[in-house]
Amino acid sequence: MSMSRRKALGIIGGGTILAATATVGTFLSTRTPDIAIAPWAKAGSYTDVRKRALSYAILAPNPHNRQPWLVDLSEENTMVLYRDLERDLPATDPFSRQLTIGLGCFLELMTIAAAQDGYAVALDLFPEGEQGPVARAVFSDRDSQGNNIKADPLFEQILHRTSCKEPFEDRAVPIDKIARLTPLATTYTDPKEVATIRKLTLDAWMSEAGTPHALKESVDLMRFGKAEINANPDGIDLGGPFLESLMLVGILSKEGQLDPTSSGFKEGIKMYTDMLTATPAYAVITTKGNSRIDQIEAGRRWMRLNLTTTELGLALHPVSQALQEFPEMAEHYTRAHQLLSKPGETVQMLGRLGFGPTVGRSPRWPLEKKIIG
Ligand SMILES: Cc1cc2nc3c(=O)[nH]c(=O)nc-3n(C[C@H](O)[C@H](O)[C@H](O)COP(=O)(O)O)c2cc1C
Repeated sequence: MSMSRRKALGIIGGGTILAATATVGTFLSTRTPDIAIAPWAKAGSYTDVRKRALSYAILAPNPHNRQPWLVDLSEENTMVLYRDLERDLPATDPFSRQLTIGLGCFLELMTIAAAQDGYAVALDLFPEGEQGPVARAVFSDRDSQGNNIKADPLFEQILHRTSCKEPFEDRAVPIDKIARLTPLATTYTDPKEVATIRKLTLDAWMSEAGTPHALKESVDLMRFGKAEINANPDGIDLGGPFLESLMLVGILSKEGQLDPTSSGFKEGIKMYTDMLTATPAYAVITTKGNSRIDQIEAGRRWMRLNLTTTELGLALHPVSQALQEFPEMAEHYTRAHQLLSKPGETVQMLGRLGFGPTVGRSPRWPLEKKIIG
């Protein structure tokens, strides 16, 4: 009995669709940017103690994942850290305050990783003033009193830490966990206060998105999909099966992200609104002064905070829009300081805190790319 034309078409057509789905499915399941995340697997695999510590330091969080570090290892037992001025963010970080915080995160991870090997790091910050190197670090296997160096338990968290850019679960952060964080940051858990800060983060995010030069700086740093992420493992990485599906169907594109009237832009606003809204608590780091050294110290504290949240099974996510120092943000910057600091203090970091999925490792340039001299 011959098959009806309709039935045959159905089988062939269905088969083709199935095959196409399978191809896309395979494509989407191979979206891990292996080259870009290789530095996470390479951490600790160097023989030089300085490089071993630095291979962890390069996993530090930093604004827009710019990784503005350059290190000179030409002097024995010494590392000199410079800020790579080609990685500046003139629109969203005009005074390089946030980039300096990121370098503080870097120095803290380096110090923790060196201690794991039994090395102390004597840090001299801005030894030649603000225009010179960020730090000179001398490694030695004894502290200044001649004692052996103790390991830091936070080392265990370095490879598990992330900035969790996801909606958090709808549940409160328990008091005993909050208590572990209070030596490092001011925390906000009161629902009324949380609602006020949440509104600030949403308003500030919309303000950045509505400021063309700030938006363009971010969009220029977006990496769309695996190939772009592997080629430039920095900036804002948009990858993984879900986002790549949106790219495949044309909803997510560079042009769209620059055009506030596009459907892709509106989709982005919805994703950010949902994420920023799903936040049960906040953590804030303030400093009395706002010198370069204060900014480095704030970064070191943020790093310890993020490693501690990791140990406690909590997620932490910096939301810095309200703290950015470009004129169009001034209203939200002022409000952030009224809400979150005492007069005269600077709010250095504001982070969402809660329970979130542990998401993947974000891209990094290899250490070799960061060594000069
Ligand atoms: C000073 C500073 C500001 C940051 N601001 C933001 C922010 O506003 N939004 C955001 O999603 N991530 C922010 N981050 C996080 C980085 O983008 C993120 O850490 C980087 O992509 C590296 O990823 P990882 O922490 O997952 O390893 C900030 C990090 C630092 C150190």
